[in-house]
Amino acid sequence: MIEQIKKTAVLNIKKALDLKGLEDLRIKYLGRKGELTRMLRGLKDLSLAERRRVGPAAQHLKKELERLIAEKKNELITNYQLPITSRFDVTRPGHRIKLGHIHPLTKIEEEIRHIFLSLNFSVVEGPEVETEYYNFDALNIPPDHPARDMWDTFWLKQSAKSGLFARSDLQRKSDLGQKNGRLLLRTHTSPMQIRYMETHNPPFQIIVPGVVYRHEASDATHAFQFMQIEGLMVGKDVSLANFKYIIEVFLKKLFGSDLEFRLVPHHYPFVEPGVDVYMKFSGKWLEVAGAGMVHRKVFEAVKYNPYEWQGFAFGFGLTRLAMIKYNIPDIRLFYSGDLRFIEQF
Ligand code: DAH
Repeated sequence: MIEQIKKTAVLNIKKALDLKGLEDLRIKYLGRKGELTRMLRGLKDLSLAERRRVGPAAQHLKKELERLIAEKKNELITNYQLPITSRFDVTRPGHRIKLGHIHPLTKIEEEIRHIFLSLNFSVVEGPEVETEYYNFDALNIPPDHPARDMWDTFWLKQSAKSGLFARSDLQRKSDLGQKNGRLLLRTHTSPMQIRYMETHNPPFQIIVPGVVYRHEASDATHAFQFMQIEGLMVGKDVSLANFKYIIEVFLKKLFGSDLEFRLVPHHYPFVEPGVDVYMKFSGKWLEVAGAGMVHRKVFEAVKYNPYEWQGFAFGFGLTRLAMIKYNIPDIRLFYSGDLRFIEQF
């Protein structure tokens, strides 16, 4: 009986492939209900002579199995454990690497850039911190225009240290018309019309995508920061008809060829005449842009001869276009950083 147990136990322990198998063997022989344990426990029912014969042999086997198991355990740990964990399983499915993607606002901006590049427009960008002159004065927006109100505009505090002095109301008056006047966060992309014309000669056609800021409470359709695309085309005979064509191509490329749009008269100080562009979407007319023929005062500000040059300008709410195109109900979602939103694009 003991010989029998010994033979199979020794063999099995030798053949054990891993720690789990070895532990199973230990339980099978030496566990509380193990074969050898039961035999040792049964000794008390045997005669004295039998006990003397079997007892020491069983005790001896117990010690021996304990030793063999401990040895095997060492061997498994040192020889096999490391190779097993570092072994490369070629049949295992790979880990999917999660790639990011561009934000919906960037996506629509890229799309719009491409459309206008295909229409031979150049893309230029401008500073988000502007002076009062470029943002308002040069665009024929008078000093008492409500858009300059602190409710609309983020004015920047200026100190002697920054080289720009804090300005009193009196000084402010003398700033009017000064290019290096008070600083603000641009409220629209239109100041780049001035900056571009100051440094370039017509004819040309450009768009200016960029971020603009308004000091206003945010809700589903308003944010203190949003994106616009400005457009400007100047030449000897550029007309509102040219504008209508450009805008038609642009909107149809962006929203599909069955898109309906219309121009409605509207006042903007830097154009004459001025219009608003409405497009029909899901049965509703939505205002998507302001536009018009560049005002002669604007040309005069950049020293263009208004009898020689004419052109159109337009300003689209890019964030607005993205909301319409992707059917986004709340502008705040763009800036929320919420993955549940972002991952839908
Ligand atoms: N800058 C205007 C705004 O922010 C939009 C605009 C209107 C731009 C008419 C233009 C224009 O270029 O001609 O509301």
